[in-house]
Amino acid sequence: MEQLLQQIALYRSEIAAAEAGTPEAVEEFRIKWLGTKGLVKAVMAEMKTVPADRKKEFGQILNDFKLFVEEKYEALKQNNSRLQTPDSRLDWSLPGTPIPVGTRHPLNIVRNQIVSIFKRLGFAVAEGPEIEDDWHNFGAMNLPEDHTARDMQDTFYIHQNPAWLLRTHTSSVQARVMETQKPPIRVICPGRVYRNETISARAHCFFHQVEGLYIDENVSFADLKQTLYFFVQEMFGKDVKVRFRPSYFPFTEPSAEMDISCLICGGSGCNICKHTGWVEILGSGMVHPKVLENFGIDPNKYTGFAFGMGVERITQLKYQVNDLRLYSQNDIRFLKQFTGVV
Ligand code: DAH
Repeated sequence: MEQLLQQIALYRSEIAAAEAGTPEAVEEFRIKWLGTKGLVKAVMAEMKTVPADRKKEFGQILNDFKLFVEEKYEALKQNNSRLQTPDSRLDWSLPGTPIPVGTRHPLNIVRNQIVSIFKRLGFAVAEGPEIEDDWHNFGAMNLPEDHTARDMQDTFYIHQNPAWLLRTHTSSVQARVMETQKPPIRVICPGRVYRNETISARAHCFFHQVEGLYIDENVSFADLKQTLYFFVQEMFGKDVKVRFRPSYFPFTEPSAEMDISCLICGGSGCNICKHTGWVEILGSGMVHPKVLENFGIDPNKYTGFAFGMGVERITQLKYQVNDLRLYSQNDIRFLKQFTGVV
């Protein structure tokens, strides 16, 4: 009888260690142990050799053994179906479902290009708040109290506190920079600006500007021209011609607007350039002495130039987009045409 007990103990350890990674291996296990000619049957058959006084004891042992094998078989079956399910239900060789990704916005592409050109000339990027006070947006920039730009028509004032407004130009960032930095100052300020305009193909209530400011000893109008000329060539290519026209801005004296030869018609005349061959791309000038004084910068020691350009306008010229509303409609079919352009 001791031999039978030993045999069962051996079987038990063999079964405990058994593994089955495929349905075939599970079936093999079943046939070996639980089949009609299996080992469990063979062990049970030994019952008849057990003496009558130990039948009860062995009945229990043999039943436990049978139960042990059956439980193991169930466990192997379950484990195997867990392993098998992903393989049989999923085809790992199928191409994946693409996750649609957004694209870089054309205005951001152009803004980044503008910034990187000026960075190469040693300009640093400066930013300011979109919600401004009257002083930084107007007063400090030498806009007189009765200037038309302050008109409620153009400026969005904050309802709860009319001392605050949405900046109407990035020139407000000039004020913020002069407030905190001493010359030499060389900054480029990209940002969004707001004006109370009726939305149409040619006007929007918000748009984007890039402001530039350079203050040091001996900065001249020739420096301004050369800087902007370099910018235009980098942005639009070597063949583009530029011209400066005298203009007026309260914060610069003298002031000039810069035109470039029309990229659409090459100067021969079209709708974009209103048949003049030229398109205006920015305002500029020498920083007004009063503006410098507003920030304790001595105009007898320091001079500077400033300029401001519209990002939409430059994007429009570069990519011939003629409706401003397209930039804020989030139509991916429009936006994705500009990817890969950097
Ligand atoms: N702030 C002007 C505008 O919004 C643009 C501008 C003109 C900025 C001349 C300047 C400048 O810095 O010197 O129309």
